[in-house]
Amino acid sequence: MNEDFFHKPKGYFKQTPNLPDYETTYKNFSWEKAKEDELTWFEDGKINAAYNAIDRHLTTFRKNKIALYWEGDNNETEKYTFEEVSYLSNQYGNYFKSLGVDRSDRVFIFLPRIPPLYFSFLGILKIGAIAGTLFSAFQEQALFDRLENSSAKVLITNTELSQRVEKIRHKLPHLKHIIIVDEPEFSQNITKQSKDIHIARMDPDDYAFMLYTSGTTGKPKGVVHRHLAILSEHMTAKYVLDLHDEDTYWCTADPGWVTGIAYEILGSWSNGVTSLVFSGRFAAEKWYQLLQKYKISVWYTAPTAVRMLMAQGETLVKKHDLSSLRHLLSVGEPLNPEAIRWGLKAFGLPFHDTWWQTETGAISIANYPCMDVKIGSMGKPTPGVEAAIIDEEGNELPVGKEGNLALRKGWPSMMKTIWHRHVKYDSYFVKEWYISGDRAWKDKDGYFWFVGRADDVIKTSGERVGPFEVESALVEHPSVVEAGVIGKPDQLRGEIIKAFVVLKSGVKPTDELKEELSLFVKKHLAGHAYPREIEFIDKLPKTRSGKIMRRILKAKELGLPIGDTSTLEEF
Ligand code: WT7
Repeated sequence: MNEDFFHKPKGYFKQTPNLPDYETTYKNFSWEKAKEDELTWFEDGKINAAYNAIDRHLTTFRKNKIALYWEGDNNETEKYTFEEVSYLSNQYGNYFKSLGVDRSDRVFIFLPRIPPLYFSFLGILKIGAIAGTLFSAFQEQALFDRLENSSAKVLITNTELSQRVEKIRHKLPHLKHIIIVDEPEFSQNITKQSKDIHIARMDPDDYAFMLYTSGTTGKPKGVVHRHLAILSEHMTAKYVLDLHDEDTYWCTADPGWVTGIAYEILGSWSNGVTSLVFSGRFAAEKWYQLLQKYKISVWYTAPTAVRMLMAQGETLVKKHDLSSLRHLLSVGEPLNPEAIRWGLKAFGLPFHDTWWQTETGAISIANYPCMDVKIGSMGKPTPGVEAAIIDEEGNELPVGKEGNLALRKGWPSMMKTIWHRHVKYDSYFVKEWYISGDRAWKDKDGYFWFVGRADDVIKTSGERVGPFEVESALVEHPSVVEAGVIGKPDQLRGEIIKAFVVLKSGVKPTDELKEELSLFVKKHLAGHAYPREIEFIDKLPKTRSGKIMRRILKAKELGLPIGDTSTLEEF
């Protein structure tokens, strides 16, 4: 058992943490009380997450405070106060309404991290519609699967990205409008709108936003979150991110994924913090410049990014004045002890690991400012969340035993449904537990340790990719008969996507073809979900019922024992 602690030295805290005593708060925490104390409600128990994120600050000193600093790819900058974000999102909401968007219609956003993405998201929630986000690396197939399954009525995008949608538009009968935000006409339509809006009074359970995420089998599933999810997001932004009014906060995630929604829009702004959004790509030097220029104090990023920074060395860090930093966090994949130790050397601060999922809607397990960091562990459950390690029947396993990481049902940001797949939704629960699909164990002090996925889901650079999607894309290629896809461990990216491909007879297994297939998936499915490694193979291992046994491909790849093959067809 690894008992390697980072003990926070005297003088570590520049500010008293919002959660000064984890154990006491955890013991006494009540969602009912938090609902009253931390959120703003309309009459009759109605709520709106967007109102809580932005508009409620307008009656306070935060009205003229900067909500959003934006920096673009080419050093363009913009900034918006809470009041400006409020009325811009009102205008967006009014515009959507004028196009006929009603409550619970699905409105999808397919944009890079530019300000209209944020105004759109808030505007959609304000009129009671359901916001969906699409990562800008998505290509035709990924877009089609999501827009079709959700029957999206409106898509908000830009000129460049809209071209990918044009090719599939004829197959999307529900898609009534495509809004192009960089056309002059769009700005004219927005300025015409009233800056006031009647914010939709929602039931806490009403759907607010949805995100497609991958499992082992089948197409991505639409995880739907309700308006009350903001309560979990708000509480964790307060306790785990430890956001204070004096902070300038930078979350490097994209709202195409849940982190960007929960901690770049809802939970972070509901705490009234000033946030930076950078729309450019990763570049170590640029990132340090941003940390310095905006005097970032709280920084939420991902292990792959930390490893990429690490690869560029400490000297580059030291060329910048990063003395504003006070709290560093990461999410998405295991945070290696070396990354924490490097953080300590480079920034004088440890990265705090946090664990959660699209389905959990908010940070569920974390390392807290007020606690020493047990290096390598994900930390302890967030107040109001009960985590456990359980067996297949839903019985709790003892300390030290590996099993399924599960959370007791019922925290506010637990996914509300899987879009049009109620049976699938129910399959996530055993007795009173939500089963995460991750394997983990708990130590004697109550810290959780990540072991791996219980299924074939791939995490590459922190992004979740379903092997089935990649396999389906590969078999679209005329040379391919079938394909099996796995995550292969990788120093930098955590995992890379590796595909085992069976070619049609007569097709030559050349390196050029490997390249062509990679590119094919990139162009067809998504820029981040293509196989970086391809191996041609004569036959895939399958069960007698014909299911590809990726576990065996993986064991072979890693030189591990193959395990139980009783269901395996001859291989
Ligand atoms: C999966 C969820 C919600 C954050 C973004 C990812 C893996 C997440 C950790 C961590 C080890 C982690 C898990 C989880 N994961 N955080 N701290 N240590 N693994 O959300 O795309 O829904 O992925 O990411 O495997 O199940 P997501």
